[in-house]
Amino acid sequence: MKKLIEVENFYMNLGSFSLKNINLDIYENEIVAILGKTGSGKTVLLESIAGFYKNCCGSIKIDSKKVSDTPIENRNIGFVYQDFGLFPHMSVFDNISYGLKMQKKDKMFIRETVKKISETLSISNILHQYPGTLSGGEKQRTALARALVLKPKILLMDEPFSALDPITKEKMYVQIKEINKIFRCTILFVTHDFNEAQIMANRIGIMINGELRRIRKSINLFEKYKDDEINKFLGIREELYSD
Ligand SMILES: Nc1ncnc2c1ncn2[C@@H]1O[C@H](COP(=O)(O)OP(=O)(O)O)[C@@H](O)[C@H]1O
Ligand SMILES: [Mg+2]
Repeated sequence: MKKLIEVENFYMNLGSFSLKNINLDIYENEIVAILGKTGSGKTVLLESIAGFYKNCCGSIKIDSKKVSDTPIENRNIGFVYQDFGLFPHMSVFDNISYGLKMQKKDKMFIRETVKKISETLSISNILHQYPGTLSGGEKQRTALARALVLKPKILLMDEPFSALDPITKEKMYVQIKEINKIFRCTILFVTHDFNEAQIMANRIGIMINGELRRIRKSINLFEKYKDDEINKFLGIREELYSD
């Protein structure tokens, strides 16, 4: 299997908070979840991989190339924000086509590409609507379309399901897995929901206080750890983790 993202000895200092010695390899076509409490640094880690910060040390490689000098738009990454981050003054069509317009693609190409992706994500009927009029699921599918229309190799998603009701969530779990297959997109997402991480991901990383403490196969998530903070975080009872 080919490594698509390689994070090595990565540090990022934000003053009162820092990411410490992050090591993370993600293979092509994997779905990986980062699990951690609020404030543990999950968003900052995603943003670091996307290239939002300058003052970091260590190395991040995408497709075997160091990306420290590669701007966000050239990292081949799609980012779906926690609150979806749609442009409120633009229609769904304009939201989705935004990146293609920035790339100066011609109008016919844009129309065709948006049409295709809207069909895949079942949002063809809402292209003229504005974000304020959409349901949570529609907002998320629009945000996904906006990211995927640029054919990213990597999709980063920050708590993608937290704003959705339980039924929409279940539907989106299925849809994201389909996206992973159809678009051959490697997915890294963050969540604080154990169940969600296990349903969605092949492997799960556990983040505590800016450290990525362990990365495990999802099926082994609740096997005891040598790290008591992780056992506590996951609610693994003490009598089960005496070595
Ligand atoms: N741009 C920033 N400047 C300074 N501190 C930040 C910045 N962004 C996030 N932080 C801090 O970093 C810590 C981790 O934040 P975050 O990654 O958003 O946590 P999580 O996503 O796990 O809830 C928090 O204490 C937050 O206040
Ligand atoms: Mg966050």
